[in-house]
Amino acid sequence: MGICLSARIKAESPYHTGLTSKNVSTDGNSLKSSSGKVSSGSVPPPPRSEGEILQSPNLKSFSFSDLKMATRNFRPDSVLGEGGFGSVFKGWIDENSFAATKPGTGVVIAVKRLNLESFQGHREWLAEVNYLGQFCHPHLVKLIGYCLEDEHRLLVYEFMPRGSLENHLFRRGSYFQPLSWNLRLRVAVGAAKGLAFLHSAENKVIYRDFKTSNILLDSSYNAKLSDFGLAKDGPTGDKSHVSTRVMGTYGYAAPEYLATGHLTSKSDVYSFGVVLLEMLSGRRAIDKNRPTGEHNLVEWAKPYLTNKRKIFRILDNRLEGQYSLDVGYKAANLAFRCISMDPRFRPTMNEIVKELEHIQDSNSKEKIGNNAPARSRPRRLSADDARKRNIPAAYPRPSASPLFSK
Ligand SMILES: Nc1ncnc2c1ncn2[C@@H]1O[C@H](COP(=O)(O)OP(=O)(O)O)[C@@H](O)[C@H]1O
Ligand SMILES: [Mg+2]
Repeated sequence: MGICLSARIKAESPYHTGLTSKNVSTDGNSLKSSSGKVSSGSVPPPPRSEGEILQSPNLKSFSFSDLKMATRNFRPDSVLGEGGFGSVFKGWIDENSFAATKPGTGVVIAVKRLNLESFQGHREWLAEVNYLGQFCHPHLVKLIGYCLEDEHRLLVYEFMPRGSLENHLFRRGSYFQPLSWNLRLRVAVGAAKGLAFLHSAENKVIYRDFKTSNILLDSSYNAKLSDFGLAKDGPTGDKSHVSTRVMGTYGYAAPEYLATGHLTSKSDVYSFGVVLLEMLSGRRAIDKNRPTGEHNLVEWAKPYLTNKRKIFRILDNRLEGQYSLDVGYKAANLAFRCISMDPRFRPTMNEIVKELEHIQDSNSKEKIGNNAPARSRPRRLSADDARKRNIPAAYPRPSASPLFSK
């Protein structure tokens, strides 16, 4: 498995990888870009030329009118999702000519349209083109092409029919068909493989924004990473980290990265641990609608993760009977190590892939039933229960928010 092109070409532009000096606001006045992903300090105006796009002969350059037609003028009812960068629309194109086709014919695509006021937008758009455009891997979303025309910035991806993991875990209405234990593990393994590929010696890329809304699912629940707007080249030579402005999403960013701006592949491992916890618990990384003391998933769950008799308290009760106590404990313990405060204690993504595969194997071999943790708490309220009782059930989305240093 490798890179689609013969060799990955480094960007010439300083805007791609060049912001290596630490430039973190400490006064709390960080600028919030409309992308929601925050930058702080002064940033040079975004470049406007296509020259900075790495040579990617496998990427199609679309005109704005092509994409306008393919999405039927960006119809609101074809919105697939919203991110900090902008909205994502469903569209149709011809497989060979790439010309817009009638809905329901040709190939389905997802078109991400940059919000024009986005401060950080061009940089993120460029990072996506340059990283995703060079990679080809079963656990990374395929970028088909892009549009750069006047002020327009769009990206065209393969369509992922089951949408984001975030929707499956947390969206209203999904309560009645929660993802099973086996599917959650399948998704975790796929996403871990995507990150392991990025971290490999060959690529050395840090993803920097690993969270459930950036993990997309195909029709067979294969997980693919999307949204490479914050991806960054990892350290080279004998350097231990890259220094960056602190960017990312609250609840997922590693504590040492938040404090110092020093980015390593272990920052991604921390975020992976948070997502694994979200999958195991069915709770969001940050949820202000929960009782005091339970807002922050990591802080709340940590004391339970290493105690075999207590882990059932944090495991999603909708998964009851689907895993053995041993297997549940192994998965919780893996999440615990990923979110270690000291990055040196966190496993590598390759180790995580192996462990998760082992957990998958043991669950299918073990007889679940006698050994399954007993229900010992009342059923959690469903969205429907909450509606009947007039309790807000829709949780605020953890869209990227300002990340201040210490
Ligand atoms: N290829 C795709 N297929 C289906 N849905 C998608 C696709 N790309 C994005 N989405 C939906 O749009 C949302 C936002 O996309 P994302 O790339 O994360 O944008 P942003 O960079 O603005 O965060 C995703 O969480 C998902 O629900
Ligand atoms: Mg996103």
